[in-house]
Amino acid sequence: MKVKTKNVLDLTDLSHSELMEVIRLADEIRKKPSDYADSCRGKILATLFYEPSTRTQMSFQTAMLRLGGTIIGFDNPQNSSVAKGESLKDTITVVGGYTDIIAIRNPMEGAAAAAAMYSPVPIVNAGDGGHLHPTQTLTDVITLHNEMGRLDNLTIGLCGDLKNGRTVHSLIKTMSTFKGNKFILISTPELTIPQYIKDIIIASDCSYEEIPGLADAIPQLDVLYMTRIQRERFSSEEEYQRQHGVFILDKAKMKLAKKSMRILHPLPRVDEIDVEVDYDDRAKYFEQTVYGMYGRMALIIKLLEGSVKEFPPRVMPTHPFRCKNPKCITSSEKYLPGIFREAGGDMLICKYCDGRRLI
Ligand code: NCD
Repeated sequence: MKVKTKNVLDLTDLSHSELMEVIRLADEIRKKPSDYADSCRGKILATLFYEPSTRTQMSFQTAMLRLGGTIIGFDNPQNSSVAKGESLKDTITVVGGYTDIIAIRNPMEGAAAAAAMYSPVPIVNAGDGGHLHPTQTLTDVITLHNEMGRLDNLTIGLCGDLKNGRTVHSLIKTMSTFKGNKFILISTPELTIPQYIKDIIIASDCSYEEIPGLADAIPQLDVLYMTRIQRERFSSEEEYQRQHGVFILDKAKMKLAKKSMRILHPLPRVDEIDVEVDYDDRAKYFEQTVYGMYGRMALIIKLLEGSVKEFPPRVMPTHPFRCKNPKCITSSEKYLPGIFREAGGDMLICKYCDGRRLI
């Protein structure tokens, strides 16, 4: 089955059956990698990383290399023409001419959506600021599928920086499309989940509860998704210092958890999981990274199946004004058209960053 979407800006760009097909393919590749060693022979992946990365970039690269394809790209935009002031539009137009698929990570929210407006080849969002991170979610759902045997009726605790953690936003969006999941949101009052993510849960067959303490929440969880406090997204170091070190998963807290609970973490870990916990059988965060590579292999195969190089048609603005979110890609790339969808009353939602503005 060929996937309908050209780009993956969020994992919900895939339908349920497409997602299940990618999960199935990832499993098949993991069991018999040699069958796929030539699947992308002659194809080139570009990894354009405007922000630091270890796992995501390397797993994209190893995924393409293991499929018989090759890779180009940068992990420090200061070594590319970006340092000379080149726009995202121009970089994407040029790199899209050289390659067959692009994975992009950028600190601005909505950057991947902006790239997709100009790219002749599929764009995969490898993280856009504090917004979304669909291939981490693919990694997470493959891990859950294998470790829990299901993606529905799970009680999932998400702990840490729920405001800025893009992996949390993407994971909730996808898991809300399955029935009966309950999200236990564990954060300080300053780092709670954005309202638009809560609205997605409210509109779904899932539910959420906010619990301020990890020890209070842990006994009921099937899954605990730990995250680091996103230092680079704070406006001051003092603010970060006030937030970090609040939630630490250690052996004592693990004693309160179910024997069947699984711990996931997108990594990198800072200090939110004590190293002792790594030796607990319930810790799955290192296995998770390996599942992620197979997930990316499956996704690349699916996106390249029957893909034709074609520049998208020009997109015109829907409204004559700009998004007010200073972290939105439209605030730095001024040529981008303002595109909003109406959300009732005077409320508009930015297509790039999901930011809300009143007219
Ligand atoms: C995450 C990211 O970049 O959002 N890392 C990753 O891709 N595995 C999580 C994080 O940086 O905290």
